[in-house]
Amino acid sequence: MDRWFLIWFVYVAGTASVFEIACTVVPFLDKYYSLAARTVFWFVVAHSIFVFTRDKIFKQRVKAGNKAVFITGCDSGFGNQLAKQLDSKGFRVFAGCLFSYNGGAAELKRSCSSRLHIVHLDVTKDESVQKAKEFVKNNLAGCDLWAVVNNAGVLKGFTVEFSKMSDYQDTLEVNTLGQVRVTNAFCPCSESAGEGSSTSTASQGEPVAPTWQPTQ
Ligand SMILES: NC(=O)c1ccc[n+]([C@@H]2O[C@H](COP(=O)([O-])OP(=O)(O)OC[C@H]3O[C@@H](n4cnc5c(N)ncnc54)[C@H](OP(=O)(O)O)[C@@H]3O)[C@@H](O)[C@H]2O)c1
Repeated sequence: MDRWFLIWFVYVAGTASVFEIACTVVPFLDKYYSLAARTVFWFVVAHSIFVFTRDKIFKQRVKAGNKAVFITGCDSGFGNQLAKQLDSKGFRVFAGCLFSYNGGAAELKRSCSSRLHIVHLDVTKDESVQKAKEFVKNNLAGCDLWAVVNNAGVLKGFTVEFSKMSDYQDTLEVNTLGQVRVTNAFCPCSESAGEGSSTSTASQGEPVAPTWQPTQ
């Protein structure tokens, strides 16, 4: 069901309940309103409140406009879903994929608009990150790089007893140093957007790559 219809319905039901309770508590109100008159009254009041709050409150959302977003780790999971969502909302999306022409990346490309670009990206490699940055810069097509989402991550090792050193190293390389590498590389690029921001989803990277928000 349409979200706006649901909200509208809740407003009408809420307003009707308030008026009915008011009529019960203050019975003389009943004398002035026939059922038809007060039904029209609820609708007018509820619809006015709905229109006012919809335009003033609910619609204060980010508009895609000429905004571009770079997301790491889009082969699967959250990154993949976020890329699809942002593309459907009109953002220019640069989807960093580890395997840029296989599986998830190919499916992503197929299911999105031509605004979405697949970029090969291994966050553990300086060269790969720099190449991705160049690609993004050269394909902004007049858009501002508005956000960088550090999403690429690995989940390796659960307990000290069963984890190998390589699990720790891989986790550190991707989840922590990868985020630092990407954030450092893209900072100057997204600064030009004035309100650019970098955000992290990888659990291990948050302490070292906190949300970064340059000001104009
Ligand atoms: N799922 C959760 O409950 C949860 C909770 C808290 C935080 N997180 C964090 O949220 C992020 C996404 O999680 P998810 O569940 O969507 O995991 P996911 O499906 O495994 O997605 C992680 C993505 O990162 C990619 N990746 C791995 N190593 C990479 C590298 N070296 N360079 C570039 N990309 C690389 C993976 O590519 P391949 O698939 O090709 O390997 C994959 O597409 C992760 O950072 C995770 O730590 C997840």
